[in-house]
Amino acid sequence: MRILVTGGTGFIGSHTVVELLENGYDVSIVDNLCNSSAVVLDRIKQITAKTANFHKIDLLDKVALDGIFESERFDCVIHFAGLKAVGESVKEPWKYYNNNLVGTLNLIDSMSRHGVKNLIFSSSATVYGSPKVVPITEEHPKGNCTNPYGQTKSMIEQILTDIHKADGEWNIVLLRYFNPIGAHPSGLIGEEPNGTPNNLMPFITQVAIGKLPELGIFGSDYDTKDGTGVRDYIHVVDLAKAHVKAMKKIFDNAGLEIYNLGTGKGYSVLEVVHSFEEATGIKIPYSFKPRREGDIAACYASADKAKKDLGWVAEYGIKEMCLHSWNFQKLNPNGYGE
Ligand code: NAD
Ligand code: WQD
Repeated sequence: MRILVTGGTGFIGSHTVVELLENGYDVSIVDNLCNSSAVVLDRIKQITAKTANFHKIDLLDKVALDGIFESERFDCVIHFAGLKAVGESVKEPWKYYNNNLVGTLNLIDSMSRHGVKNLIFSSSATVYGSPKVVPITEEHPKGNCTNPYGQTKSMIEQILTDIHKADGEWNIVLLRYFNPIGAHPSGLIGEEPNGTPNNLMPFITQVAIGKLPELGIFGSDYDTKDGTGVRDYIHVVDLAKAHVKAMKKIFDNAGLEIYNLGTGKGYSVLEVVHSFEEATGIKIPYSFKPRREGDIAACYASADKAKKDLGWVAEYGIKEMCLHSWNFQKLNPNGYGE
């Protein structure tokens, strides 16, 4: 079976390509490399001893995208490609709506016209907005996304739901990721943020390697165990494995399904810092800063539905997440070096 992976050279996409290849699937990747490097393709080959077909194509280029469907036959599409920086999306909303929405609409159109109606979409816990209760189940109503990035995820979920409603031949799984961190245990692939990281773990690893002087912890007065924000961090390899399980569900004619992908455990910022220090032996200097606009106090998943329906549970713990994030940073101090 051949799987088309959009955004397959990115952070989560590359780990998923590895899992797919290791599970015997043939893989084709579409990525415009706007937030990733072609070096990832060699790294995937080093890990798996297999090669994925690579198409350097922008999803906004409808003709080029369609050409891939003309030349290859796909059994399922896993759609990671999108822009994901929350702060940037507030400053440049058009760019986010255009890239994420039009890219997805072009993809659906090509799929539909070529009779490929199996799709897994990368959604996010951000669609819940500020949760009314934690842990968050899939039944929790979608909330008010405070930024255009989150809006694109929520809108794409709606578009895909309507498409499935109109044509029952579509099998669509919406995966709502919580906070993916970590890296492949080999240290060959991982997360390479553009510029100063916005997310916690890449910021910590850059402090650890000496690129940044200290971590600023955004808020110490939340109604949480120690006053700092609580999140559900999930190892990217566990996340990748969930895609392989979700695909099996698709091939069993899933219809439309939504799954949270998290560990079900919430860790505060201070707990992550201390876990990182314990796992690596490196001290992370920090100071408290005001709350970051748009942040919420606590967000963690109920992952029961994925366990029940997909037979998937996250296996790595917070220490391994920290260790593998550090391992990638240490082995790739300048990222993929391009
Ligand atoms: P990433 O930026 O590492 O990967 C996305 C990939 O898509 C990149 O390689 C980029 O070059 C490519 N891309 C973007 N726009 C494109 C276009 N128009 N045409 C072709 N390629 C394009 O991000 P990631 O962390 O791997 O996230 C993957 C998906 O998961 C995204 O849709 C993201 O919104 C979603 N997600 C990520 C997180 C997270 O914290 N990392 C959490 C929830 C959901
Ligand atoms: C985690 C915690 C911060 C940086 C974001 C997106 C979400 C999803 C995942 C895509 C919070 C604190 C952070 C720092 C800090 N992405 N923090 N100092 O905000 O939970 O989720 O990524 O879908 O949509 O919003 O993740 O890693 O930025 O923050 O104190 O320098 O760490 O306040 O409590 P977040 P994060």
